[in-house]
Amino acid sequence: MSYNFPVTRTANPKPKPDQSNLGFGKYFTDHMFIMDYDEGQGWHDGKIVPYGPISLDPASCVLHYAQMMFEGMKAYLTPDKKINLFRPDMNAKRLNRTNERMCIPYMDEELFIEAVKATVKVDADWIPTEPGTALYIRPYIISDEVSFSVEPAKHYHFIIILCAVGAYYDINRGGLTGSHIYVEDEYIRAAVGGTGFAKVGGNYAGGMRATKKALENGCKEVLWLDAHEHKYVEEVGTSNAFFMIGDEIITAPLGGSILPGVTRDSTITMLRKWGYKVSERRLSIQEIEAASKDGTLQEAWATGTACVISPIGYLRYMDRDIVIHGGGVGPVSQKLYDQIYGMQTGVVADDMGWIVQLG
Ligand code: COI
Repeated sequence: MSYNFPVTRTANPKPKPDQSNLGFGKYFTDHMFIMDYDEGQGWHDGKIVPYGPISLDPASCVLHYAQMMFEGMKAYLTPDKKINLFRPDMNAKRLNRTNERMCIPYMDEELFIEAVKATVKVDADWIPTEPGTALYIRPYIISDEVSFSVEPAKHYHFIIILCAVGAYYDINRGGLTGSHIYVEDEYIRAAVGGTGFAKVGGNYAGGMRATKKALENGCKEVLWLDAHEHKYVEEVGTSNAFFMIGDEIITAPLGGSILPGVTRDSTITMLRKWGYKVSERRLSIQEIEAASKDGTLQEAWATGTACVISPIGYLRYMDRDIVIHGGGVGPVSQKLYDQIYGMQTGVVADDMGWIVQLG
């Protein structure tokens, strides 16, 4: 099926931001995509319009019961001026897994990908090119039905907005650096049966209390432990977490409470291709502490669309500090970053078929 979305261009294009100080989510582009869903009609009338405020009834379901979802992707400009997307099919599939959990209607995967491509094309001159930058793509769905009944809505908006971004962690602006991470032993992010595997705002809202605690403790982010025993590592902040102990690289298994990250999957695939032993298994914070003591804890890093590969230099756990790779960047994190960000930006050949180029 081919999709054709009408475009209304802005009469007032904004000045482009300084690429050396983009931050994350500060500089939005000139246009956005918007499409409606109505029961009986399905998703309809997708169009690209000038970026701007949307109007919502104050009683809209999303504002009260948070029936919504979002995705995160990036677009990159290659040295020969082609536009790269990274594994957009994975985002399309995850969008529908989240929709299913949130009782939001299914969206045709091709429709989703074509909408992303069309929006990026219209604002292609916003894709930054400085090292470590990208055009972040934020597709999301909100239920705007006017009702206080706690039940799935019958009307939704699908919106795509774009912003020019730098490194998610400021600390990584001039290249990779080890972050300080707070191991949260009181609050939890998600339990199996909840929405931990889905990309929904509520997961992040519920995490902010712990993030505040992490910041008060001089850390950037939280390392979440499991909901039942507060013992096994799950995710780090907005990302998946990897630990290298001896020659084994360990990440939490996708058991329902973990977000199935696109960068997580790409990291596992790439490491296995390079011959590393990767285990998707439970890893306790006590095992990490013991490995730190006996000298086998080699490296740790976070993976995510926003943070790409972000090394972890210190863990603060119950007033004890666990220093990883001297607080700096280990060779495996650096190699992964060079490979994955290199493929995304077109400076390293894509031998995995992960890059989708916009014509
Ligand atoms: C992403 O990595 O795309 C995310 O969704 C993280 C975001 C909460 C900043």
